[in-house]
Amino acid sequence: MRSEKHPIILAIESSCDDTAAAVLSGGELLSNITAQQIVHAKYGGVIPELASRKHQENIVAVVDEALKVSGKLAGDLDAIAFTQGPGLLGSLLVGVSYAKGLALALDIPLIAIDHMQAHILAHFIEDPKPAFPFLCLTVSGGHTQITRVDAPLEMTILGKTIDDAAGEAFDKTGKMLGLPYPAGPVIDRLSRQGVAKFKFTEPRVAELDFSFSGLKTSIKYFLRDQTALNPDFINQERENICASVQESIVKILLHKMEDAARKTGIKEIAIAGGVSANSALRTHFEARARDLGWRVYIPKLAYCTDNAAMIAMVAHFKYLAGEFADLNITPKVRQV
Ligand code: KG4
Ligand code: ZN
Repeated sequence: MRSEKHPIILAIESSCDDTAAAVLSGGELLSNITAQQIVHAKYGGVIPELASRKHQENIVAVVDEALKVSGKLAGDLDAIAFTQGPGLLGSLLVGVSYAKGLALALDIPLIAIDHMQAHILAHFIEDPKPAFPFLCLTVSGGHTQITRVDAPLEMTILGKTIDDAAGEAFDKTGKMLGLPYPAGPVIDRLSRQGVAKFKFTEPRVAELDFSFSGLKTSIKYFLRDQTALNPDFINQERENICASVQESIVKILLHKMEDAARKTGIKEIAIAGGVSANSALRTHFEARARDLGWRVYIPKLAYCTDNAAMIAMVAHFKYLAGEFADLNITPKVRQV
């Protein structure tokens, strides 16, 4: 029996290197399965060709598992949602094609989801949920942006990175320090044993946009100069370098968020994306929240990193709004 208000939705996420599927019933999460691809670690970054091949290998088992855990059968589903973009073309194609096949076979509607919108609506999977309007800082390996959110499907991007993403700044620094990929969590851990004693200048970027390439360059030259003086500099100072870089990245993010909150007068502040796992980012935001009267929302880690529950959440709102996709839909590699 199809339900207009309590749809049962299967969502698929395959934009980058994780294959994920989730089932949501009437807005309540029943299952959330993610198969991570460890194959990329030894290359120091995601290899697109390998990612799409792994998605092909994983997708059937991941969807089967999501249905099994949810206790639902394919025949119970009201709609199939998939990540349309942004992401890697080969990876997206696996999810889009699989979703189309399933929608055709089951004769149910398709819902196309924007991955960035999904990171933001991850805040609606569990309580506490931000009140509208709120500002969301989305920080991941691929994106850094501040969005004003007036309703579940009404969002305006106020600022974004003009070069690298915040997660990339962590990962590229890690590469220079000889740390494994992805370096963000490793830098976070090492920073706890270090002191932010090295200073890097904060970039001047117009309005609410971000830039991390200048920081990357100054870290590179700093390491080059220090290593010329002391070849063992990185080994001796690794924890302090990590703490210093981490503090610089967090300050860039925090200062822009303060500007955005001041300009809009909004005090509901949400943080999303993989970098929101960073402990310094959390501590600094919570401290500023106390000073400025913000209410800060950070979802639990499983909903911050790429997952299908967040795709299902957007799909729920789109289903209620009657926003369905045609079978001739194609992936969107870039955000529009
Ligand atoms: O959202 P996500 O899982 O995937 C993308 O859509 O990119 O984010 C992954 C990024 C990586 O750059 C990783 O280094 C970073 O999030 N990351 C962290 C931490 N945990 C993950 N960065 C800093 N501190 C962390 N604890
Ligand atoms: Zn993501």
